[in-house]
Amino acid sequence: MGLAATSSCWIGTSWKMTKTLAEARRYAAGLAETLQARPELTDAVQAFVIPPHTALAEVDRQLQHVQAQVLLGAQNAHWEDAGAWTGEISVPQAADAGARLIEIGHSERREHFGETVEITALKVRAALRHGLRPLLCVGEPASVRDADEAEEFILAQVRGALAGLDSAQLARVLVAYEPIWAIGEHGRPATAQELAAPFAALDRAYGAQVEAVLYGGSVNQDNAAELLEIPGVDGLFVGRSAWGLDGYLELLKIGASHGRAHRGRLDG
Ligand code: PGA
Repeated sequence: MGLAATSSCWIGTSWKMTKTLAEARRYAAGLAETLQARPELTDAVQAFVIPPHTALAEVDRQLQHVQAQVLLGAQNAHWEDAGAWTGEISVPQAADAGARLIEIGHSERREHFGETVEITALKVRAALRHGLRPLLCVGEPASVRDADEAEEFILAQVRGALAGLDSAQLARVLVAYEPIWAIGEHGRPATAQELAAPFAALDRAYGAQVEAVLYGGSVNQDNAAELLEIPGVDGLFVGRSAWGLDGYLELLKIGASHGRAHRGRLDG
């Protein structure tokens, strides 16, 4: 699992629609400086950062000496390579700006921008066609969870987006399970107990095939360690708690100690 053979856990953040260019530059410069001074922070962690499109190239520039430690991602990209698609950017354009990963199907994109399962499938293929990793986000609304249909719902989202991929393609896909009711400032953090069944279902169906399965939704410095212990969770995808550099570094520390302990268990 992971980019490097030693990676035990993925810790990443999407900045969503936040940060000016100057703020993005400051964060990325600070991250690069810290990772160069303390490379052990990513010994057992694959870090990733997903800025808004406007900051991609600048963040890429700031992270150039720590590229092996931090993957740069884009929050969205169109499935066509180029053309008359006003307001969109393509996977080759995102890659040109430095992205090596494309976030696809976040619940905010599904809800506000009409991103359907069919569209997520097109975007997954576009990312793979250009050698980038798709980070497919799935998750159910509260009503589906209350009806006890969460597993079925998220497996259908994953199945639809990944249909027809061969094993080499699947091995480059990241899946993030983010229950909609747990995301954002109106979200309620999910408990480890609530997450056990969906992760067991994802693990059974895709755990051995995809590169990693992550958890996202109100992750913070207090619950991260416990969330990482849930069977089937290979890492965390974080919004608000990682928008400040100190918050993200704290989460990397938690990931690193989880990774080391996990490796210790494997060694022992
Ligand atoms: P949050 O966002 O950590 O701020 O809840 C998570 C996400 O939307 O990926």
